[in-house]
Amino acid sequence: MMYTAILPAAGSGTRMKANKNKLLLELGGKPVFIHTLEVFEADPACRSIWLAVKPEEQRIMEEEIKRFGLKKVYGLTGGGKERQDSVRACLEAIPACEVVLVHDAARPFIRQGTIRRLAETAAQEGAAIAAVKVKDTIKKAENGLVSETVDRDSLWMIQTPQAFRYSLLLEATRSANEDGFLGTDESMLTERLGYPVRIVESSYENIKITTPDDLIYGKAILEQRRQ
Ligand code: CTP
Ligand code: MG
Repeated sequence: MMYTAILPAAGSGTRMKANKNKLLLELGGKPVFIHTLEVFEADPACRSIWLAVKPEEQRIMEEEIKRFGLKKVYGLTGGGKERQDSVRACLEAIPACEVVLVHDAARPFIRQGTIRRLAETAAQEGAAIAAVKVKDTIKKAENGLVSETVDRDSLWMIQTPQAFRYSLLLEATRSANEDGFLGTDESMLTERLGYPVRIVESSYENIKITTPDDLIYGKAILEQRRQ
């Protein structure tokens, strides 16, 4: 199933505590976001890539895209205050298509196989999101005292990519914007309209580079893949 990719890359990376956007930090000889872009560049099912960037970082990102010979980045749109605004800006800019797939530029270890399953499931069912099972025991606590142990079997840790029929995500995004609803992922926007969302099991390797220790895990993943 052919899809169009939207990659939000307009964050600040505050939790990384670097002196620049974490996406521009080097990991195994390339900026983090270049690793992510390369996965989509290599996927024949990816029609084009749209990147949400900060206006002040547009030039440096364009230079890196050129330096690494990437050809599928079709458009760079200005990012918004919140991640949801950045995704909305791209969604409003892309040409109509059947399936759109949103993926954090900060998740460089996504596999083509997962992307493919998500795009196909979204085409059939409307919405599909990458997730992994919760590994630890989860408890609720109030004022430091445990109030409940939650049944782990039904719990998933949600990642990106999240894939949707284009028309569905557009409707949900516009509706959230009109209502002033802010979600932490795209699926929340379609869920609130009552549409079903299918879980697609992904990999624990699909980490989001967020805090400094993620760069250590990231290097280990790269090394293991190079063997
Ligand atoms: N993002 C974006 N626009 C925003 C905020 C985030 O495009 N206004 C992007 C980030 O660049 C990242 C992805 O959304 O690729 C996931 O967000 P997150 O990991 O939270 O990155 P940051 O917001 O940059 O980091 P932090 O929350 O630590 O500041
Ligand atoms: Mg953030």
